[in-house]
Amino acid sequence: MSATTHASNELPDNPLRQLTLDQLRQRTSEKWRRYDPDVLPLWVAEMDVLLAEPIAKAVTDAIAAGDTGYPSGTGYADAVAAFAAERWHWADLDRDRIRTVPDIMLGVVEMFKTVTGPGDAIVVNSPVYPPFHLFPVFNDRTVVEAPLGADQRIDFAALAAAFELALGRGGRAAYLLCHPHNPTGTVHTRSELERVARLAADYGVRVVADEAHAPLVAPGTRFVPYLTVAGGERGLALTSAAKAWNLPGLRGAVAIAGTEAVADLARMPEKMSISISHLGSIAHAAAFREGGPWLDALLAGLDANRRFLAELLAERLPEVRYRPEPGTYLAWLDCRGLGLGDDPAAAFLERGRVALNSGLPFGTGGAGHVRLNYATSPEILTEAVDRMAASL
Ligand SMILES: Cc1ncc(COP(=O)(O)O)c(C=O)c1O
Repeated sequence: MSATTHASNELPDNPLRQLTLDQLRQRTSEKWRRYDPDVLPLWVAEMDVLLAEPIAKAVTDAIAAGDTGYPSGTGYADAVAAFAAERWHWADLDRDRIRTVPDIMLGVVEMFKTVTGPGDAIVVNSPVYPPFHLFPVFNDRTVVEAPLGADQRIDFAALAAAFELALGRGGRAAYLLCHPHNPTGTVHTRSELERVARLAADYGVRVVADEAHAPLVAPGTRFVPYLTVAGGERGLALTSAAKAWNLPGLRGAVAIAGTEAVADLARMPEKMSISISHLGSIAHAAAFREGGPWLDALLAGLDANRRFLAELLAERLPEVRYRPEPGTYLAWLDCRGLGLGDDPAAAFLERGRVALNSGLPFGTGGAGHVRLNYATSPEILTEAVDRMAASL
């Protein structure tokens, strides 16, 4: 498939092809408003899609009925459990192990509070989603990095060293696993996850798995929830419909306990569970319950975009190194061959008028890299790569 023939080969119902640039520029969300109107934004993890029809209906029905009170019931938990059983072969996920939280990162913090104390360390695999560096610190924890290997996968020697360092001062420690990994899109395998669990058990480190991007794993790649692997029973996990169905504006997430971590999850204050937005939980439940066909169309579109981006880069920016991974819609681009210094995103923005995430806030391994969000149309993707190339 060549870069030029891609457009005509798309599925007709590709959610990434329903909006024009003019329509997208009307949006008032962060992606479209942070930069000047001449800048093409492919940065923050918002997608250029319309809402899946069942989600739009659930939310507009609730609005029409004035159903905007406090959240109630187990609709979100039920929908996650059913989706997990169908898509991830997770048959024994008891709804009692699932609690709603206002969003993923607030849920992550609550999980830290249940398994660590102030001053304790949180281990992260840099380069990683910048809030993984920030939220522990905002909450009186320190961060210890275990950088990914050159293959973008967990480096177990680095992880063991980080566990050692994290426990060095005698406190407790947790490992915040990003699964799939943002920004690389790496999907950890069952054997890697089992190795994580063994290492965590050896050191007495608790695992908190952020599975925000889990529904976005490409067809043909198996997503294995951390809590389902041998040794994962003591883990805690978070997931949400926000990334896969583009719902960051309708906030919500769930925290899930491994079979031996139910008491830990139970320590989370009730106030946290009921602080989820009622409309958010309606939207997220509809996504997990009825959003499957839309998700499948999206995943096909993302798969095509992933291959298309690799082609575009090979043709127009051959010095950029990109290792496509099946995990999500984020591409981690090694731009060190371009001679743009530690922060190539700054040059692409200033000279190319294209907004990408700078790699620097992702921690060790981020210098000279950018993160590009390809959850957009092939036309916008083409224009973005053209602008990057023109800025050199
Ligand atoms: C790994 C990861 N966790 C959490 C979030 C944010 O989720 P929330 O907005 O629900 O806190 C994101 C958003 O991009 C993410 O990539």
